[in-house]
Amino acid sequence: MMKSCTQFQSSWGPAVGALALVLLVGTAKAGVAQAQSSPTFTEDVAPILYESCVGCHQPNGIGPMPLLSYEDARPYAARIKRKVQAREMPPWHLDPTVGIQAYKNDISLSNSEIARIVSWVDAGAPEGDPAKLPMLPDLPDGSVWQLEDLLGPPDFVIEAPPLTVAANGQDQWWVQKTPFEGLIDGPRYVRATELKGSYPLGVKVLHHGHVTLGFEGEDGRRQSRPLGRQGIGKGGDLFPETTGMLIQPSGELSWNLHYFPIDEEVANERATAAVWLYPEGYKPEYETIGEQRFTADSGGDMPWAGDIVIPPHSIKAQQGTHVLKGPAMVTSFRPHMHMRGREQSLEAIYPDGRREMLAKVDNYNHFWQISYEYEDNAAPLLPKGTVLLITTIWDNTADNPVNPDPRQWVVFGQRGVDEMSHVWLGMTYLTDEQFERLSAERNRMAARDDG
Ligand code: HEC
Repeated sequence: MMKSCTQFQSSWGPAVGALALVLLVGTAKAGVAQAQSSPTFTEDVAPILYESCVGCHQPNGIGPMPLLSYEDARPYAARIKRKVQAREMPPWHLDPTVGIQAYKNDISLSNSEIARIVSWVDAGAPEGDPAKLPMLPDLPDGSVWQLEDLLGPPDFVIEAPPLTVAANGQDQWWVQKTPFEGLIDGPRYVRATELKGSYPLGVKVLHHGHVTLGFEGEDGRRQSRPLGRQGIGKGGDLFPETTGMLIQPSGELSWNLHYFPIDEEVANERATAAVWLYPEGYKPEYETIGEQRFTADSGGDMPWAGDIVIPPHSIKAQQGTHVLKGPAMVTSFRPHMHMRGREQSLEAIYPDGRREMLAKVDNYNHFWQISYEYEDNAAPLLPKGTVLLITTIWDNTADNPVNPDPRQWVVFGQRGVDEMSHVWLGMTYLTDEQFERLSAERNRMAARDDG
């Protein structure tokens, strides 16, 4: 995303300069070693920040402080070290040691990037040569659609009724219905959707939310398709190039928006969703139903909401299963718990008994609603009869840094201090023939990689 700026390679400048200097004072060997091993802000750290942090850590971003210059970053050096070492920043909370690791939107740092930041802080966080500071990347603000770069302007935009979000108080919900009429002429396939709060204040108060379109499907049955799912740290939903989501031209939009106050009233906030369509008449090869909720907390073939009872000072686990009635491809994984949530994982138990971890978050933080989007050729392909096994672990002890009160009993509920346990999965159900074809393609690719 931030890779547009290409001046990141470090140059020989300072090493040569330092060499000349130490030759002069006559301690060449030790001096050279030091000049090469001690990282500086401008040459070693700024490139990482510009690539992985400043999208949020800029005056118009959601990060609490800008990290654009040495002056910005220096006071936070110790905290930066702690956050990147703990893998809390950038926000990417997947366990890197287990499960599929190929994601389109992976923003995590590599081990060597983490090591570079740590050794910079340990060396006293030196600035280095200001002339070596890389060019600042473009910093879009929250007024633009993230997917517009890739897809151009959306085909249509829908808007929630206005809400005034109070300055203080508890979380607020905005649950509304609005008609969907006159925006498209006939059935169409959706390529991508993106939902956001209004700019500049709405984007700060909208914690997560959805807008779904309910309509009568071609088979006469009531259907519901997401036209926008938002969460802090989650971008828009872009389906793979041959995949689309079918919608009908008339129906009803259900808005379900969850706001967190920010000590400032936000008047007439209106969440908006942008929708990009495939061209008229185009029928994509695969049809998705978008991101769907798999609950371990409210029915289906999962345990019921009332099953969540977390005693004080305890760690609790809950598992739920869902058996696939047909073959499917899972394109994304988005865990959802609240403040006691610590871990959540998705495993597949295949019809032949084989068990595979598909994704596991071991560092969950309720503030973030990140969707882990599988690379197209890594998205799990699951045969009919596969059991999806969802495991949730809550930590209601004092060791959980965001636990508001470990002395409380915690049950299911909407508020952040209550609990939930479900995952959102991008689901594309497949015909048997599509499943066979995709599986064969994967096997061919795997064979090629081995050979
Ligand atoms: C997707 C947006 C986003 C990205 C990318 C991001 N941050 Fe953050 N950062 C935040 C937000 C929001 C917070 C406050 C909430 C939290 O701590 O989770 C935060 C908090 C922090 C804090 C703690 C600040 C404090 O006052 O204690 C540090 C340090 C930090 N980020 C550093 C970084 C670094 C370094 C990177 C890149 C390697 C980075 N962040 C990438 C959004 C982001």
